[in-house]
Amino acid sequence: MLAAMGLRVWSPAGLGEPAPRPAAALDASEAAAAAAAGTAAGTAAIVATAPAESASRVAMPAPPAGAALPAHPPVTAEYGAGSARSARIATLDWPDLRRAAADCRACGLCDTRRQAVFGSGSTQAHWLVVGEAPGADEDASGEPFVGAAGQLLDAMLRALGLSRAGEASDAGTEEGAVAASDAADGEPLPPQRRAYIANTLKCRPPGNRNPAPEEMARCEPFLQRQIELLRPRLILAMGRFAAQSLLRSTEPLGKLRGRVHRYQGLPLVVTYHPAYLLRSPAEKAKAWDDLCLAAETMDAMQATQAPDATAPA
Ligand code: URA
Repeated sequence: MLAAMGLRVWSPAGLGEPAPRPAAALDASEAAAAAAAGTAAGTAAIVATAPAESASRVAMPAPPAGAALPAHPPVTAEYGAGSARSARIATLDWPDLRRAAADCRACGLCDTRRQAVFGSGSTQAHWLVVGEAPGADEDASGEPFVGAAGQLLDAMLRALGLSRAGEASDAGTEEGAVAASDAADGEPLPPQRRAYIANTLKCRPPGNRNPAPEEMARCEPFLQRQIELLRPRLILAMGRFAAQSLLRSTEPLGKLRGRVHRYQGLPLVVTYHPAYLLRSPAEKAKAWDDLCLAAETMDAMQATQAPDATAPA
């Protein structure tokens, strides 16, 4: 009935009927309350007044053969794609990759950062959220998305029944730093309910200015390796810089939204950056539409894939 009324509806697959919610879908307190009230499975389902879309929009395009990244212009022989540096980064495991980012001096941001902000969440997560760059709060704490934009991101994740907490198996690592508190509330979440959070830039641009193309190119091998190691089922690119750099596109964000792209064969959905949504709350309904597209894409993949051998029976 809600869909027939033009309301966008999504609830986690197999977790019962969606609980109708008012249009303020991504208001942090609303989403937190929704998550707390939850369905029988303890997840939130939120309804927003975005127009209903045809289900065919979710149909997954076949991964392009070979699905290699389009070539990025080399920055310099020393740092660019195909350089010895990026080849070396492409061999690192999680701890070494984190150390390499912490020690990186490939661009001038290393002179002004307090610390590199590598990423956080479960290394088993099925969702990867990619933002832009650390701000002052993240530079101080070393964690991505901990400021006001991070609180909104958490609300967005909760609205989809997702958590950025690490897993018990990651305990003792930076990735799993919050695993214990997550598990203490009950059953640990399965990977399909977990999101790993990373940024296109690992270091804060001074004064929160936009990332420079040279900085993005030099930082890119870190995110590429994170994606290779994580092998997420879906990437949610938040904001222009994440979307354009991952997709090698110059199209405006508004044009990149609303369809499922591919990054090395992985589905990628574009949405607004939470910091933009804080400045432009009227766009939250569109962002909710994007989140529904991502969740429906996930559900469609799970429905067509063989059961995950690691999933609990
Ligand atoms: N904005 C981002 O894009 N990333 C962060 O980590 C914080 C704010």
